[in-house]
Amino acid sequence: MSSTPQPDGRRVTLTKLAEMRALGEPIVMVTAYDHPSAKIVEAAGIDVVLVGDSAANVVLGYADTVPVTVDELLMLSAAVRRGLRSPMLVGDLPFGSYEASDAQAIATAHRFVKEAGCDAVKLEGGGTSAARARAIARAGVPVMGHVGLTPQTATSLGGYRAQGRTAEKARHVLDGALALQAAGCFSIVFEAIPSEVTDLIMEHMEIPVIGIGAGPSTDGQVLVFHDLLGLNEAFKPKFVKRYAELHREMVRGVSEYAAEVRTRRFPGPEHSYGIAPEEIERLQGMLISDAVRW
Ligand code: KIV
Repeated sequence: MSSTPQPDGRRVTLTKLAEMRALGEPIVMVTAYDHPSAKIVEAAGIDVVLVGDSAANVVLGYADTVPVTVDELLMLSAAVRRGLRSPMLVGDLPFGSYEASDAQAIATAHRFVKEAGCDAVKLEGGGTSAARARAIARAGVPVMGHVGLTPQTATSLGGYRAQGRTAEKARHVLDGALALQAAGCFSIVFEAIPSEVTDLIMEHMEIPVIGIGAGPSTDGQVLVFHDLLGLNEAFKPKFVKRYAELHREMVRGVSEYAAEVRTRRFPGPEHSYGIAPEEIERLQGMLISDAVRW
């Protein structure tokens, strides 16, 4: 883990991230989607927390990230905000909430800051997204870019697959990253690109780059909370390393609870409230005299 965690509870700032990059200190980023997970990543000393639009499939049960709405992500982001003190909080702008115009992008970004307390927002794509990133940054909201595999437009990228695997396609990823950097993004996510391509692009980057499936040479790494903890057993892409097997452990815990209820081993005396014997006696007395009246 990086040495950044702010023991005094100070927020991780843009300056801090730039300093970490300059010092070669890896930046640790993870997603979170609710209050308990926010408290866990806070306690773990994470530097940057992303309320990713991956919430769509990870916690809301959609098939992909396309349907998730601004209001849904705002509710999750506000819950995460209430559980965080020091990490930087980044809200993901969902598909359809920033592409139409600079005005739309600024209005959505402002909602993430004003209604959910986000410190920054993230958007996907290089080309026109760079213009939107510039507009948002100029309107006072720090922006993180995202190139390579961009799930919101996965269909036009040919599906959920690594990007930049030919020289032309790698050049396209580089161009997108440079456009976002020139537009004033404070950081960029590189997702699912070959390590050698990342190495080459890194030579041109002057802002912190956070990788996911982009090899070891980025300034930091990001993983989805549920992936790294093994909360979704069915999902294990190549770039995920599991640091726990919580799905298994949670099924075990809930099954044991069910078994104990069914065999009347739960609740035990230690889980039950007591009453003084004389109060029970008085109650019994009351019930007897009431019964006489009935
Ligand atoms: O939505 C998300 O979780 C992301 C990360 C994979 C960077 O964009």
